Amino acid sequence: MTSTHAFWLAGRQATGEETLDVTSPWDGRVVGTVSVPTERQVDEAVAAAHSVLDEFAATPAHVRAAALDHVSRRLVERTEEIARLISAENGKPLKWARGEVGRAVSVFRFAAEEARRFNSGDSQRLDTDAGGTGRLAFTRRFPRGVVLGIAPFNFPLNLCAHKIAPAIAVGAPIILKPAPATPLSGLLLGELLAETELPEGAWSVLPVPNDRMPALVQDERLPVISFTGSDKVGFAIMDSVPRKHCTLELGGNGAAVVLADYASEKDLDWAASRIATFSNYQGGQSCISVQRVIADASLYERLVPKIVAAVEAQVTGDPADDATDVGPLVSEDAAKRVESWVDEAVREGAQLLTGGKRDGASYAPTVLADVPDHTTLAREEVFGPVLTLRRVEGESEAYQRVNDSKYGLQAGVFTHDLQTAFRAHRALEVGGVIVGDVPSYRADQMPYGGAKQSGVGREGVRFAMDDYTYERVMVFTGLEL
Ligand code: SIN
Repeated sequence: MTSTHAFWLAGRQATGEETLDVTSPWDGRVVGTVSVPTERQVDEAVAAAHSVLDEFAATPAHVRAAALDHVSRRLVERTEEIARLISAENGKPLKWARGEVGRAVSVFRFAAEEARRFNSGDSQRLDTDAGGTGRLAFTRRFPRGVVLGIAPFNFPLNLCAHKIAPAIAVGAPIILKPAPATPLSGLLLGELLAETELPEGAWSVLPVPNDRMPALVQDERLPVISFTGSDKVGFAIMDSVPRKHCTLELGGNGAAVVLADYASEKDLDWAASRIATFSNYQGGQSCISVQRVIADASLYERLVPKIVAAVEAQVTGDPADDATDVGPLVSEDAAKRVESWVDEAVREGAQLLTGGKRDGASYAPTVLADVPDHTTLAREEVFGPVLTLRRVEGESEAYQRVNDSKYGLQAGVFTHDLQTAFRAHRALEVGGVIVGDVPSYRADQMPYGGAKQSGVGREGVRFAMDDYTYERVMVFTGLEL
C-alpha cells in the first residue's frame, strides 16, 4: 500500500492528472507514487516564481535565515524517517542515507548563517584617480532571476538541498526538479519548507519527467540553471541556452594517488581502507567516488592485496540492513552497463582481481589491474563499484596519469610531505585536491565543482550564493572622503 505524493506548486500542495511510481532498486517494490504536474501547472509555478522576484529579494535576512534554520532543525528531528525514505527510493544503504541527511542538515544551517552575513556591501574609494575625486563605489549583490535547479538521483536529498538552500539564502525564487527516479526526498524538503513563512511562489518542487525538461530549460523566465548530472545532458543544456547563466556539476573518474612517502604499514592500511570504502559507497554512484588508484611502484605490490582485502570486506546486500555497505545500483540497466564495461576491459587484457559479477541491479565490488588505456572503463565515468589500479614511477607520472582524463572533478593524494602537496595542487587539473585522503571527501561549505568536462562554476553554499547573484555597483558623487 503506497500513498500518492502531491507536488509543491508555489509553496502549496497540488496534484496533476498523471502519476509516476517510484520503485526500490533493491526489490522493485513501489515505495511511493508521485503526482506529476501538468504543463499548465508548471507554467503557473514559473509565473508565481517570476512575480515574487522583487518581493523575495527584498525579504529581510532574518526571515530567510529563520526559514533555513527551521528546515535544518526539522531534518534533525526526522532524520531516521528521511534516511529510510532515501534508502528506499535510491537503494543507498541506510548508513550512507543517514550521513546524507546529516549533510543536508548542515547545508541548511550553513545557508542560514551565510544569509545573515551576506550582502552587507563592499565599498571602494574611487579617488585613487583624479577623475574619481569625491567618489565612492558601494557594491551589493542581487539575484540574477529565478533559478531552475535540476537534481540527480544519487544524493536525492542533499543535492536538492544544495540547489534550494543557497537560493533561499539570497532571496532568489527557485523551481526544483528532482530526479524522476528519486523524487520523494525532494518532495519531503518541500513539506519542511511549507512550514516556513517564505513568500508564496518563492519555491516549487516539480517532479517533471525528463522529456519535458527542455521546455523548462528554454523558459525565458528562468535565467539561471543549476544542473547536477551527466556531462552529456549538462553540456546539451548549456549549448541549448548559451545566454543563460548555467552551473554544471558533472561527472568524474576520481583518482587516488598513493605516493612513495606514504609507505608505512599504517599508511597503506589507511589508504586501502579509504579507497575500498569510497570506491563502493552508494555503489560507486558519486561523481567523486574513487575509480582510479595510481600508486607508486615502490609500494604498489604491498598496497594491492590490502585494497583487494578491504574491498572484499565490504558488506553487500539489502540497503535497509544496518550492516550493509554496498547496495544495488539505481537500476538493473545501470548494473548491466557497468558489467559490459568490466567485461570489455577483461576481454582487452585487464586483470580481474575481485568481483566482476552482477545480480539484477547489484554489481559486486570489483577491482581490476592493467586496464588498457583504450577501454571504456579507462576513459569514462563508471558510476559503479569498480576500481582500477595502476603502477607509476614517481610523482610526475602520477600527475600526468590523473590528468590523462577528460574529467577533472577532485583527486586524492596520499602524501605526508607539504611540498609534494603543493606540487600536486599546482599540477592536477581538478576542482579539488584532497591531501591524505580519497577524492570523495566533500565538505558542503567548500567550493565544489570541476575542471574540463567535469563542469562549469562552483557549488558549496556560499559559492552557489555568489553564483545565483550578480554585483550591482552604486557610485556616490561629491563626497568629502
Ligand atoms: C556528486 O556526486 O557530485 C556529489 C558528491 C557529494 O556531494 O558528495
